[in-house]
Amino acid sequence: MSSVVVITGSAGLIGSEAVRHFAGLGMDVVGVDNDMRGYFFGADGSTQWNLQRLVKEVGDRYTHHNVDIRDRDGLDRLFAGLGSAVGLVIHAAAQPSHDWAAREPFTDFDVNAVGTINMLEATRRHAKDAPFIFTSTNKVYGDTPNSLPLIELSSRYELPEDHKWYGGIDETMSIDSSMHSVFGASKVAADIMVQEYGRYFDMPTAVFRGGTLTGPGHSAAELHGFLAYVMRCVMEQRTYKIFGYKGKMVRDAIHSHDLITAFEAFHRAPRVAEIYNMGGGRFSNCSHIEAFKIASEITGLEARTEYVDQNRMGDHQWWISGTGRFEQHYPEWKLTYDVPAILREIYEANQDVWKS
Ligand SMILES: NC(=O)c1ccc[n+]([C@@H]2O[C@H](COP(=O)([O-])OP(=O)(O)OC[C@H]3O[C@@H](n4cnc5c(N)ncnc54)[C@H](O)[C@@H]3O)[C@@H](O)[C@H]2O)c1
Repeated sequence: MSSVVVITGSAGLIGSEAVRHFAGLGMDVVGVDNDMRGYFFGADGSTQWNLQRLVKEVGDRYTHHNVDIRDRDGLDRLFAGLGSAVGLVIHAAAQPSHDWAAREPFTDFDVNAVGTINMLEATRRHAKDAPFIFTSTNKVYGDTPNSLPLIELSSRYELPEDHKWYGGIDETMSIDSSMHSVFGASKVAADIMVQEYGRYFDMPTAVFRGGTLTGPGHSAAELHGFLAYVMRCVMEQRTYKIFGYKGKMVRDAIHSHDLITAFEAFHRAPRVAEIYNMGGGRFSNCSHIEAFKIASEITGLEARTEYVDQNRMGDHQWWISGTGRFEQHYPEWKLTYDVPAILREIYEANQDVWKS
């Protein structure tokens, strides 16, 4: 088996977890990250701290490249140098926020859509047989989930138990005729292109449409990183702005570790042009109100929140991922973290960093 894995966004939440995991399996990891998260979200968002930690922990198995994924020639040179040694590609670099995308639509599209075809084409030219994993998003379904017949409970919205998607929304939901946000639309372009490289060029590509991805590796910023930012606000006694839906919107949360074990399963038995909804599902989900309650219990501190009676455009009122298709293809894979376990770990990992 080829022993090199190329990981974009390697200093970010998902990328860094992937670096540790695959280096731990004995693969050499080539990371691509230019700390553009710092440009998107300011100092809170910079992933430089995570990169430094990573380099120290992983040592010689990790090589970092400060390449911008918009730099087509730079990526091609990198892949040309590695050639068929590349046995796996994980493309997790992105502009990840709805709100930010509307500020600079060209930048968002260049990073998310054009950056993805740059990665696909470099892989096709130099390492066509390497499984190519792309971190897409449930925002490709736009605001269609908001047309579900939700009922209001005391701390959350919920689907009736007899609804076909009570256990989670599956991949048959339409991606058409809905409001995606500029970010959602650039991710759709990338998502379809990854599928197309699978079908058209017969490459082992997979699209993982994530719900809320989280873990202690997140550089928690107001515009991105839900559970990490909830915990940061409680620990630092910052005020968290809740946008709309009475704080009862539901998110499923998957720990970066559980996502990466799913990637490993795909790497070991790749398929062509797959799409998977991927998240914490029924096992791991919460509303904002519930997340703050758990964070307060863990820290012993009161949460400071401010309610803004205007939801973010295109934001989901309720999302729980249906992971049935993935579980059917990879029955050995299991979720191991639920929301309280995720929040506790974020708390413990950041005790020296986030102080009031
Ligand atoms: N975190 C979530 O809740 C979530 C949910 C669904 C999908 N996703 C997707 O998962 C992927 C990873 O998300 P994450 O939470 O790890 O994000 P992240 O922001 O923590 O990491 C992304 C990394 O990519 C880097 N990057 C951005 N633009 C770059 C560029 N032009 N060139 C090189 N590097 C660049 C950033 O500096 C950052 O370190 C993204 O594609 C995101 O859209 C995330």
